Amino acid sequence: MAPIVEVEHLAKSYGSFVAVEDVSFTVEEGEIFGILGPNGAGKTTTVECLQGLRRADGGNVQVLGHDPRHEASQLRRRIGSQLQESALPDRMKVWEALELFSSLIPQGPSWETVLEQWGLSEKRDAKFGSLSGGQQQRLFIALAVVNAPELVFLDEMTTGLDPTSRRATWGLIRQIRDNGSTVILVTHFMDEAEALCDRIAVVDDKRVVALDTSEGLIQDYAGESEVTFSTDCADLSYLLRLDEVDRLERQGRRVTVTGTGALLARVAAELVGNGIVPPDLEVKRASLEDVFLTITGEER
Ligand SMILES: Nc1ncnc2c1ncn2[C@@H]1O[C@H](COP(=O)(O)OP(=O)(O)OP(=O)(O)O)[C@@H](O)[C@H]1O
Ligand SMILES: [Mg+2]
Repeated sequence: MAPIVEVEHLAKSYGSFVAVEDVSFTVEEGEIFGILGPNGAGKTTTVECLQGLRRADGGNVQVLGHDPRHEASQLRRRIGSQLQESALPDRMKVWEALELFSSLIPQGPSWETVLEQWGLSEKRDAKFGSLSGGQQQRLFIALAVVNAPELVFLDEMTTGLDPTSRRATWGLIRQIRDNGSTVILVTHFMDEAEALCDRIAVVDDKRVVALDTSEGLIQDYAGESEVTFSTDCADLSYLLRLDEVDRLERQGRRVTVTGTGALLARVAAELVGNGIVPPDLEVKRASLEDVFLTITGEER
């Protein structure tokens, strides 16, 4: 199947300032595609160009078969986009916002269905300004999907939410995908990207510097893990002969073995084979955050 988003060498400047220099990636139908990167890397500019909200200066972009530069209005009908904070009047009621948005694009489900589906029935008559941050966010997601979009753009969806609301929002994002939409998610939260995204593009300094599954990125950029345990046994040199093991350090009884691949399984098997069964054997694997810092952290 052809990708539903194709971005080749996207470039965008604001006056003489280059915000996006050379961004390329593709998004497949049905995936949750993450975009991660430091502040000012060009993520929002990129997704705005994809939605036809900003005009790219260079490169080729196809979104659902449309070129957003020339076919923004056709495209807008088929995509959903999260609003930025405070983008609704405080006095507007929840149902009024949903009705307004659904009336603009009649193809979707009824707004009453969306109200219920997104757990907003209780707040039907509440004014936007009276909603909590989490409820506002929930409404913004509902508004983004009220036209049954094929592709949904979410830019920093969970910033400012408490941990419970963040987790609830993850559920909503999965629900969007399960309802058949593809999702492009810009986020600063590594746990969010790791939990939700099928693939992640890391954008740094105006270009895509890495693109893979979270597991693939960890393997490639922060592949080492650490196994720790305690033992009184003095000779552990056999561990160093394992291909997976790079280093071994001791602090008193505490042993730290650093390496790659199936480190835990190999070390555990070897220890047991040598009569050591440490009750506190633990593994610390690299996380997406380690990847992010490795890729983007050096010159900062
Ligand atoms: N309208 C604008 N006019 C001038 N410069 C802009 C404009 N919008 C963004 N920029 C600049 O372009 C660069 C990229 O901005 P962008 O908003 O795309 O970054 P971002 O990756 O989304 O960052 P953040 O993580 O902080 O949201 C930044 O240096 C920003 O200051
Ligand atoms: Mg941004």
